[in-house]
Amino acid sequence: QGQGDYQLPLAGRTVTISAGGTREPLDPVRFLGNRSSGKQGVALALAARDAGATVRLLAAHMEVPPPAGVEVVRVETALQLREAALAAAADSDVVIMSAAVADFRPAEVSDTKIKKRDDSADPVITLVRNPDILHELVERRNAGDAGPASQLIVGFAAETGDSDGDVLAYAEAKLRRKGCDLLVVNHVGTDKVFGQDTNAVVILARSGSEPQEAAGSKADVSAAIINRISYELNHVLP
Ligand code: CTP
Ligand code: CA
Repeated sequence: QGQGDYQLPLAGRTVTISAGGTREPLDPVRFLGNRSSGKQGVALALAARDAGATVRLLAAHMEVPPPAGVEVVRVETALQLREAALAAAADSDVVIMSAAVADFRPAEVSDTKIKKRDDSADPVITLVRNPDILHELVERRNAGDAGPASQLIVGFAAETGDSDGDVLAYAEAKLRRKGCDLLVVNHVGTDKVFGQDTNAVVILARSGSEPQEAAGSKADVSAAIINRISYELNHVLP
């Protein structure tokens, strides 16, 4: 470092960010999808880039273009995202799973367009579970099989709360189940979060530190998340 230089908090770090919503094909023209816009993931990519990181964006379906100055890997399905994420994790200091990953995919994908026919019963779509990419990233990191041992893994959760538990209770359970280092929790209701430009989140840490709140534009929230990640990397991890 030269005189008067200051170090950006993520300089020299590689950050992989998944964004958008996966699409699970039924036939060549149809898919099962979700309402994720990709805005949060793109805002995170910008914030990480501006913090000096080398950024790799694993882009599932997004309504917004990827930002300049980041490497983009396009994916469609959860299985493709899994491949891309496991490969990218190998040399990433941070992996952020902000993509909305389909929990299930159609058990069979038709090579040809599914036709409606008057002489046959209405179709039933059988679904099978997709792998849990976040959980797998954590297991691999913990086993020392992939990526730097000190890799920081961040999950996202959109929770609603219901009669069985509130948002934070569900989020705490999810953090423990997933084993990631940080879990960024959105409170979702109708019209909230998906496709919106503003956001309010709580960041939970596996280390058990106090939940941290962040609110504002997706850019503000992303900057707060990236700051927290920088802090964990530079002050908490060995
Ligand atoms: N995720 C993942 N692979 C999946 C599903 C989810 O990596 N197959 C990641 C998401 O990108 C997110 C986190 O896991 O970072 C939490 O996603 P969420 O859908 O809230 O968790 P689930 O375990 O799928 O629980 P739920 O039953 O509430 O959907
Ligand atoms: Ca899910």
